[in-house]
Amino acid sequence: MSNATATTSHQRRILCVGMCVLDVIHVVEQYPAEDTDKRCLAGYWQRGGNASNNCTVLRQLGAPQVEFLGMLSASPAFGFLYEDCRKRNIIIENCPNTDMDPPFSSVILNKATGTRTIIHSNPGFPPLQYEQLTPLDLNNYGWVHFEGRNNESVLKLIQNIRNYNIELRNPKDRIRISVDLEKMKDEILELGEVADFVFLGKDLAIHLGWREPAAAVMGLYDRIKPQKQLGDSKPAIICPWGAEGAACVDALGNYVFIPSKPVSEIVDSLGAGDTFCAAVIYALQVLQKGLPEAVLFGHDVAGYKLRYRGYDDIKHFR
Ligand code: FRU
Repeated sequence: MSNATATTSHQRRILCVGMCVLDVIHVVEQYPAEDTDKRCLAGYWQRGGNASNNCTVLRQLGAPQVEFLGMLSASPAFGFLYEDCRKRNIIIENCPNTDMDPPFSSVILNKATGTRTIIHSNPGFPPLQYEQLTPLDLNNYGWVHFEGRNNESVLKLIQNIRNYNIELRNPKDRIRISVDLEKMKDEILELGEVADFVFLGKDLAIHLGWREPAAAVMGLYDRIKPQKQLGDSKPAIICPWGAEGAACVDALGNYVFIPSKPVSEIVDSLGAGDTFCAAVIYALQVLQKGLPEAVLFGHDVAGYKLRYRGYDDIKHFR
């Protein structure tokens, strides 16, 4: 039998598994015409990547213990990615590293429209390999969130967590598992079947033929087989649908659409989806809210973030 530590589940670490990349950002007055030479209004770089952004937001919201797990680059030129995690008290003690330069994104933030255009470059950065990881002490964790990618290793990590949960004396100590299904690949749906919470991206939903938010969450809910290890339950599914709001279905199949409030001025929409996801997890896990309240909280934090550059102002969100 596993013995969870004295802390209750919601005080333990929230772990986000995925990528850490460099985002190089240009803020422009309007989107440049092709083959022109322009100056931007502002330029800067920051640590990015979905799981890495989730960690940043969780820390800004006040989650006490946040860990990132992903391959890190040991290349000296990118030491800033490590430093930034350290500065924000994001635990990286279980991350493997490589000498290769990290993936990076060139991002254009268009002041006129509020859009963010991302051109991502990943010239073969090694993905996380389950076999290379030091086994995690699962007693430390209350929630583990996965970026939907790299199925083979992620499924093995999830299986370990599932086995740990089965062995627990007190079901309240269960580690909850969420996955972010955003990449346009049909095979990542497999990860949804083994999670407690699924974030389904709008683009993936449309790619799968669901043109409405209700059709997306109910379509995925119907497609997922009940999970034997969880007493034949299904995951809750949350599908953010742009500025309109998000469709949700809970584990019992109850559907609700939670609208979001309009945002008057968008300063920075990069990572707004990652912010929503992190804020929903924070509300469910740390604030112990129910699903509709957590999604509303997610909208409010993401809406707040849109008004500021980067993620640092989220700490002032009330
Ligand atoms: C935003 C983001 C960026 C990163 C890109 C990778 O959601 O995580 O930080 O460059 O997506 O696709």
